Amino acid sequence: MAQKKQKKFLVSILMGSASDWDTMEQCRSILNDLGISHDMRVLSAHRTPEQLQKYLKSAIGQGVQVFIAAAGMAAHLAGAVAAQTSLPVIGVPLPGPNLDGLDALLATVQMPGGVPVATVAIGKAGAKNAGILAAQILGVGDKKVAKRVAEMRSKATREVLLKDRQMVRKGS
Ligand code: RP5
Repeated sequence: MAQKKQKKFLVSILMGSASDWDTMEQCRSILNDLGISHDMRVLSAHRTPEQLQKYLKSAIGQGVQVFIAAAGMAAHLAGAVAAQTSLPVIGVPLPGPNLDGLDALLATVQMPGGVPVATVAIGKAGAKNAGILAAQILGVGDKKVAKRVAEMRSKATREVLLKDRQMVRKGS
């Protein structure tokens, strides 16, 4: 029987729970806009540790370049991924029910020396920035990706300046 061919992707977006999905859509949307192939999975450092390990082996084997790991509360997902690979890992701390994400921020950012996790902002801004940062990392070795990121940043600048002009016009 023919083996099902695994789809290749450059970025893996992981999240600890399906309840993180809406926030991480921001990340997926950025990677879509930049034309970067990605996988998006719900796998938890605490609830599915074996499946996480199995997935990491397979993703690394098929050539993933950057991991993005998002979790809330005692957020150990990004650290658990970083423990298994020397590929870059970006951690996205997510807000939980009690501490507004400060718990996840500290759990994600406070990695012991030698096992880095590049931690971005809490919540949606972090999800968005994780996608852009992953693209910037890939852009170091891929001029086309770097150009697309630069264009995205210029567009954001133009949008702010347009709002500024509109505000100045209204105020005068
Ligand atoms: C974390 O616990 C997840 O990343 C999620 O942000 C948080 C709560 O998970 P659920 O109880 O909503 O599944 O592991």
